[in-house]
Amino acid sequence: MGKRVAIVGAGVSGLASIRCCLEEGLEPTCFERSNDVGGLWKFSDRAEEGRASIYQSVFTNSSKEMMCFPDFPYPDDYPNYMHHSKLQEYIRIFAQKKNLLRYIQFETLVSSIKKCPSFLVTGQWEVVSEKDGKQESAIFDAVMICSGHHVYPNLPTDSFPGLHQFQGQYLHSRDYKDPEAFRGKRVLVIGLGNSGSDIAVELSRLATQVIISSRSGSWVMSRVWNDGYPWDMVYVTRFASFLQNILPSFVSDWLYVKKMNTWFKHENYGLMPLNGPLRKEPVFNDELPSRILCGTVSIKPSVKEFTETSAVFEDGTMFEAIDSIIFATGYDYAYPFLDDSIIKSRNSEVTLFKGIFPPLIEKPTLAVIGLVQSLGAAIPTADLQARWAAKVFANSCTLPTTSEMMDDIDEKMGKKLKWFGQSQTLQTDYITYMDELSSFIGAKPNIPWLFLTDPQLALEVFFGPCSPYQFRLMGPGKWDGARNAILTQWDRTVKPTRTRAVSEAQRPQHFYTLLKMLSFPVLLLVIWLTLY
Ligand SMILES: Cc1cc2nc3c(=O)[nH]c(=O)nc-3n(C[C@H](O)[C@H](O)[C@H](O)COP(=O)(O)OP(=O)(O)OC[C@H]3O[C@@H](n4cnc5c(N)ncnc54)[C@H](O)[C@@H]3O)c2cc1C
Ligand SMILES: *[C@@H]1O[C@H](CO)[C@@H](O)[C@H](O)[C@H]1NC(C)=O
Repeated sequence: MGKRVAIVGAGVSGLASIRCCLEEGLEPTCFERSNDVGGLWKFSDRAEEGRASIYQSVFTNSSKEMMCFPDFPYPDDYPNYMHHSKLQEYIRIFAQKKNLLRYIQFETLVSSIKKCPSFLVTGQWEVVSEKDGKQESAIFDAVMICSGHHVYPNLPTDSFPGLHQFQGQYLHSRDYKDPEAFRGKRVLVIGLGNSGSDIAVELSRLATQVIISSRSGSWVMSRVWNDGYPWDMVYVTRFASFLQNILPSFVSDWLYVKKMNTWFKHENYGLMPLNGPLRKEPVFNDELPSRILCGTVSIKPSVKEFTETSAVFEDGTMFEAIDSIIFATGYDYAYPFLDDSIIKSRNSEVTLFKGIFPPLIEKPTLAVIGLVQSLGAAIPTADLQARWAAKVFANSCTLPTTSEMMDDIDEKMGKKLKWFGQSQTLQTDYITYMDELSSFIGAKPNIPWLFLTDPQLALEVFFGPCSPYQFRLMGPGKWDGARNAILTQWDRTVKPTRTRAVSEAQRPQHFYTLLKMLSFPVLLLVIWLTLY
């Protein structure tokens, strides 16, 4: 009999976990508090307690070829960036096609997860769940936490002097659903992330005036990248990641800032990030610069204080007669069903080996899936995390010792600070992280070998987008369709927009891109070498 695994949540992380448990011969039981799969992507008109909540106009910011389950490409007529309802449709089809629904107990809340008295020997957990007011307790050999981290709003009301006397309305972006209520209003949006920018742009069409207040600024990027391809299809490549790792950091920083400023000069729009070269997640918004040019949105620094009707900014300017304030200030994560010291084992910081395993518990039978965020899509990341975790539970992979894991965490913390700065989310470079995880399970694509045996595929894997199929191309868990999926990914990308075909489909030319990209760094390298 296989080991029993409890999975908390049936969002994309939970679904990936069920599937990976099945692949390893484990017995998954998934608990989902709502009545459907999809998690964050299951839209509802009202924010529900304990669940993520999105607004009606959310579209994905990763493109479809980069955010699929690695053996389940989107139908070729799906748009590259999807409305939440379209993505939800895909997630449902995935769950049905892979026969995952029968492992899910819907409308069942996990209220407590505790170590069993025999934990030191068995590594087992006692999981308490609630359905229709009835509690049930069961013993599991392992647990996967997939409860999401866009749930508990970070509403920093205490850090804004005078907010208590403000007479208008204020809310968190979590409670924002659509713009209608803001017609003709003067609105202040606090925070320049993806949600803050989306909401500000949407409001600017109906509201009288919209101001975004931002402490640190952000790079604002278009979803439409070079030659009109989706940004991540062009930007998230092994080749670019390789360049970034070998170039001296002042060169790669300079190139990064230059790239980020090609669409428009951020300093002229009040958007310039305080620390430009930090690889903080950019904001993807095609309309924000145009709204700023049209004067319906403006950017201001932090709010120093609120009065009854207005906001005073750090620079002394004011926004008066404010009707509403929307705090797009992100989320805090919390796992109310679990003893805090398990995940935040040191200085109340999240301390997890590779963002997945608590290093200090005696048996490696608990994994957190979908918490680590990288400049890449959530679905393929969760899939790889779950594959590794399932193998650790099934004893076909072993973890290093506690002290080795702690050392690794410390080293990563240092690197994270350098690349991403102090931030709430756990970020890490996508391709480096994915390669690391896939190497643990023997599924990392072997590029030199590919160049020898299948050069056409190797070129696309190295210079083309680092799409999820790459991590199911070889090794255990390999998908036979991966090669073909990689070689046809550009066809599926252009299919939905080539609705009035004029000539033969064209892919980006790797050698041309290579030359273009190489000429510049090579020139810089030569200059650098001659100077030193
Ligand atoms: C506005 C917005 C846009 C985004 N856009 C993108 C994008 O374009 N691309 C991308 O890759 N990522 C995007 N993300 C990130 C997003 O987090 C991931 O895409 C993904 O949905 C995370 O899935 P998850 O399964 O980890 O968590 P969730 O989707 O939050 O699922 C968690 C599930 O767990 C259930 N649950 C929680 N607690 C319990 C409990 N105690 N008992 C039982 N069930 C429980 C919840 O009901 C929920 O169904 C976006 C996020 C936001 C907020
Ligand atoms: C997409 O938007 C979400 C929500 O703001 C964010 O968490 C995620 O990091 C973004 N993705 C990228 C690749 O920037």
